[in-house]
Amino acid sequence: ALYKHNEDGCIVIAHRGASAYYPENTMAAFKGAEELGAEMIELDVLLSSDGVPVVFHDAKLEGHSSGKGLLSGYTLRQLKALDAGAWFDKGFKGIHIPTLEEVLAFAAGTIAVNIELKTEAVTDRGSGGVEEKCLRLVEEYGMDRHVLFSSFDYRAVSHLKALDPAVPVALLYNRSASGKRLPGELVKQYKADACNMSYRQFNTKRRRDLNSNGIPHFIYTVDHPNRMWKLLDAGVTGIFTNKPDLLKAVIDQWRK
Ligand code: G3P
Ligand code: MG
Repeated sequence: ALYKHNEDGCIVIAHRGASAYYPENTMAAFKGAEELGAEMIELDVLLSSDGVPVVFHDAKLEGHSSGKGLLSGYTLRQLKALDAGAWFDKGFKGIHIPTLEEVLAFAAGTIAVNIELKTEAVTDRGSGGVEEKCLRLVEEYGMDRHVLFSSFDYRAVSHLKALDPAVPVALLYNRSASGKRLPGELVKQYKADACNMSYRQFNTKRRRDLNSNGIPHFIYTVDHPNRMWKLLDAGVTGIFTNKPDLLKAVIDQWRK
């Protein structure tokens, strides 16, 4: 169902949770996304210094938490002592950086999850790396059929498919790594199942390439109704938004 071309609209994906209204990548943002009708939440994964997959976007803690410096320099226990809400609004003071496990425990049976592995967490370590850890958690929580992995780092894409050929993985298209190559070719090369792309890169040539190769595609990050409407007309599989309620409302109008 995740990949079926949906003539009734598209899959509503809450980017870092409902991050227009809640501090991004926190349980508040993920629960808020579910309440606002999102069908999938997107989150970013990094590793703590003691090797635990945690949910945070930037390599550095500044900006979206009370910490300083590289997240990968802190143990889970140290990260849990940080505040991840007050930067957004004082009312959210006291909330913490979640582990991937905490988010999966909430999402299991409730909402699908797009797990984006950040390059900083990806190594050539082979077994025991971030891919294996995340995959194990996904299996433990029975989320195998409700998850979409993705990464800008194509080592992670290949590694995940080698570990479990059945797990859905999207290649994150980006110009610097992809050069002039079309998404269809890259998806085949890395044995990916889908392609995630910025709306800025989703031009006619790439759209045709994705459609003619039958590749599901998810477009990020779109908070403007006109842009949402055009993507619905283009038949995209899903849209990442910080405002899932707005996308739901646009889809309702578009279907009429
Ligand atoms: O996965 C889509 C989108 O989240 C990729 O960009 O920087 O928001 O993680 P970024
Ligand atoms: Mg992301």
